[in-house]
Order: sequence, then structure tokens, then C-alpha cells
Amino acid sequence: MKKQIRLFVNGEEHDLQLEANRLLLQALRDDIGLTGTKEGCSIGVCGACSVIKDGRLHPLQQVFIEYGGFQCGICTPGQIMAAKALLDEKPKPTEDEVKEWMSGNLCRCTGYYKILESVMAVVNNKISPDFQFRKREQQAKIQSLDVYKSVTKTD
Ligand code: FES
Repeated sequence: MKKQIRLFVNGEEHDLQLEANRLLLQALRDDIGLTGTKEGCSIGVCGACSVIKDGRLHPLQQVFIEYGGFQCGICTPGQIMAAKALLDEKPKPTEDEVKEWMSGNLCRCTGYYKILESVMAVVNNKISPDFQFRKREQQAKIQSLDVYKSVTKTD
């Protein structure tokens, strides 16, 4: 049996008819079309599908880019949501407290150090100015373009 519900997501109102057992993840991705929230383990254990209720975006998003806190990005939304919830509760956690708090969010790619480094950058207010990221981004583009250099045929 479907129920009428009203969801407010990122400042927009959505009226939905949903089955009582519909997951918030499914409503966000499939009914509203917001695919930024990722499905990981499908049983609510790995943290990939974490969302923030009544919250706003955070500088953590910037530092994850600056400090390479992700690779494939599957776990990243949940990592950032978890880190934000920690910093909302305790703005200056120790590294060990960050590790303990984030232990419920699994990552197959980064080895966790870059995630820890990203979170600690916000804790220690070491957010790089935008130009440094752009500089790195430009270097990366230049390197990737080198791959497509034409090869000169020699006899
Ligand atoms: S960045 Fe790939 S699983 Fe975490």
C-alpha cells in the first residue's frame, strides 16, 4: 500500500506516493532522480548511502578534492557525510577520534590515509586556496594531453 509523503531535498519540495518499505536511498535516486547518493552494500552497513538530514554542504567536499580523499568515488558521499556529522558534534577531534568515528565507512581504494588527511585538513584549517587545486588540475590536463601527442613517423 502506497503512502503520500512530502520530502524536502536540497531546498526543493517533492510530493511522492511510496510503498511503506521504500528506502530513502531509492526515493532519492529513483523517484527524485538525485543519483549523488550511492548504494554500496545494500544492507546499511558500509556507510556509502549516508545522507545528512537538515544539513548543508561543507568544506569537506573541497578538501577531499585537494587532498585526494577518494579514487573511484563510490564511498565518498558517505565518507563526507560521516565526517561532517563528526565535525558538527566535535569540531577539533584527534586523529584517533576521526579513525574511530569513520570506522563504519568502508573504502576499497584509498587505503584510508587520504581520507584521514582530508578530514584533518578541515580540523586543522589547512584548506588550500582554490588556485592550488586549479594548478594541479591544469598539470593533470597537460599530462593527460601528452598521451595524445601525435607520433611522428620516422623511417
Ligand atoms: S574511493 Fe573507491 S571505495 Fe572509496
